[in-house]
Amino acid sequence: MVTPFQNRRIILGLTGSIAAYKSADLASKLAQAGALVDVILTGSAAQFISPLTFQSVTGRIAYTDSDLWGSEGHVQHIGLAREAQLLVIAPVTANTIAKLAHGIADNLLTITALAARCPVVIAPAMDGGMFTHPATQSNLDILQEREVTILGPAEGHLASGMTGMGRMVEPQVLLGHIRYTLSRRGPLHNKKIIVTAGGTFEPIDPVRGITNRSSGKQGYALAQAALDRGADVTLISAPTQLIAPSGVNLISIITAEEMKSAVLQSIPESSALIMAAAVADYRPESPLGKKVKKSGGIPEIPLVGTPDILTEVAGEKSKHGYPLMTVGFAAESHDLLNNARQKLEEKNLDLIVANDISAEDAGIAVDDNRVTILDAGGGQEDLPLMDKFDVAQHVLERVLGLLGVPHNE
Ligand code: C5P
Repeated sequence: MVTPFQNRRIILGLTGSIAAYKSADLASKLAQAGALVDVILTGSAAQFISPLTFQSVTGRIAYTDSDLWGSEGHVQHIGLAREAQLLVIAPVTANTIAKLAHGIADNLLTITALAARCPVVIAPAMDGGMFTHPATQSNLDILQEREVTILGPAEGHLASGMTGMGRMVEPQVLLGHIRYTLSRRGPLHNKKIIVTAGGTFEPIDPVRGITNRSSGKQGYALAQAALDRGADVTLISAPTQLIAPSGVNLISIITAEEMKSAVLQSIPESSALIMAAAVADYRPESPLGKKVKKSGGIPEIPLVGTPDILTEVAGEKSKHGYPLMTVGFAAESHDLLNNARQKLEEKNLDLIVANDISAEDAGIAVDDNRVTILDAGGGQEDLPLMDKFDVAQHVLERVLGLLGVPHNE
């Protein structure tokens, strides 16, 4: 599985905050994802956590100020800075923020930061008072103007025992932002991709409704795979339990009608629409304003059809040309390929991803999928059982092919 982390050179700098312990997890996750992580600890960071911890999780040397004047000299570290594709400083203290803002280079990390020409991401961690101090705020403004990405701090319990703004954002969140930053020059750079996900919810009354078992996992995986290739991704999502990938433009909707409006508003200038959502085909005709009472007997709930979004998109495309290409999904319990091919033609799709929902190990609400991709040219690609993220990779590779975009960066 190729991700934006693969073989990317990342410098992870740490400064003197108790949050440094969380960065061991970040370093480990980055290394596991395939990045080449060079850690640099300031003197105060090394008071909180040992370089050995980082060497153990990255498999590479973790540098401290004792390497600055060592046999290899700091010239080597200027080299480190030049090779870096991303500099992350997490946690970064008010002190180091001030040094970065004013170009002070008095330790290995700040020397490296001054020498580096790659994107910089910082995750502040400090006591609330230090964060809100005008000096820190104006230093952060300077860094923001220089296009440094500043993540956090978050609100919560602080080491001082107080509660406030000052906690470093969690490693998982940092990882998402780093992934997004690393992906920006991918093959779908400057291309807009729209993905729909999840199962719509059609209200009966204020508490009940008609929905389906779609988890949204396949749609979210497609959004991530498109982001990983550099696309600007709009994710139009029905309610799910999932966390949206970093960098996505999330539009949360509930009903099929809302999904339709969001899709139609988003398609101008878009390169592709991938409709992975399980959209309700019927909805209660007139949702009730008050909860239906049990005492009223068994209610009759008249249903009416919902709009077929892909059919409407096909109409728009014939008038305005967008989206450049359209991918549909077909979840079928019988006669899978014939039904899917029919939908491909009726909805004027470029690709349809067919999955047999009668299988217990694949499809709706589970992590894996076994799909066949059919194309408008009559082609058929049968994929074995695989993780939904791997299915997403295959679909995105096909999208790249149809858009005529070269696969490598
Ligand atoms: O016709 P069927 O619902 O089986 O087609 C599935 C495909 O059509 C999916 O891509 C789904 O997102 C899309 N769809 C739609 N509008 C609907 C129902 C489904 O665009 N009302």
